[in-house]
Amino acid sequence: MNSLTTQSLSLTFPNGVEALHDVSFSCGESSFLSLLGPSGCGKSTLLRIIAELIKPTEGSLQRPAGELSFVFQAPTLLPWRTVRKNVQLPLELSRNTREASERVNEMLELVGLRQFANAYPHELSGGMQMRVSLARALVTRPRLLLLDEPFGALDDITRQRLNEELLTLWQRDKFTAVFVTHNVSEAVFLSQRVLVMTPRPGRIHEIFDIPFAYPRERQLRASAEFAQLCGALSNSINEGHEHAAAHA
Ligand SMILES: Nc1ncnc2c1ncn2[C@@H]1O[C@H](COP(=O)(O)OP(=O)(O)OP(=O)(O)O)[C@@H](O)[C@H]1O
Ligand SMILES: [Mg+2]
Repeated sequence: MNSLTTQSLSLTFPNGVEALHDVSFSCGESSFLSLLGPSGCGKSTLLRIIAELIKPTEGSLQRPAGELSFVFQAPTLLPWRTVRKNVQLPLELSRNTREASERVNEMLELVGLRQFANAYPHELSGGMQMRVSLARALVTRPRLLLLDEPFGALDDITRQRLNEELLTLWQRDKFTAVFVTHNVSEAVFLSQRVLVMTPRPGRIHEIFDIPFAYPRERQLRASAEFAQLCGALSNSINEGHEHAAAHA
């Protein structure tokens, strides 16, 4: 009932671009799913359909009941608001101000930014800004969290640290996560399941179940099994790419 399920989603933009073709998948409540694929394969479009920001041309969607939050590639913080006020914003907008300051403090604690509560965004590093953005997304206790390449602009070490922190938040709050990336190891490290997508038209090429138990530690990235799985996913992306090119 509370799963995220899509049935034969297709979307053709008015300019004739078929961004998605016959996309069907299902993931259970509280699961972690990633959409992986090259630029233009329709990842952001699929995320926007899941958020009901745009309507598919064909097909249907069922998603978990409750609050939904979106995290974008850029932190999109309001520069004139402090860290605390940025995180508090969604609660103000929904007039949910009861216990707001407690909840904001808790989120700042969780992302390790308690000491920066009164700082302004320009005083923070890119990684810290993204932590604020995550805290803001989770302050409303969403049941579904959609993330569109949230760590794409960060250096590798910061990205890995934020991957680990995101998993800690996910294990604690048990939201369903749909994570868009074109970074193979990021998708493998985070997810229970990865949909490899291919472009023109955007479709699911292959679905991988990732067998590693949680909590996933940093050392997992150095294991042979991890490297092997990353290799298999990379091959799948390339295969799908060549297939798409041959039919273009
Ligand atoms: N509003 C739009 N109108 C027309 N075409 C669009 C629109 N939005 C996206 N497209 C096209 O649809 C296809 C899929 O775009 P989408 O942004 O979903 O890809 P993506 O996988 O998120 O790519 P990236 O990794 O670069 O973010 C692309 O060919 C894109 O040019
Ligand atoms: Mg995109």
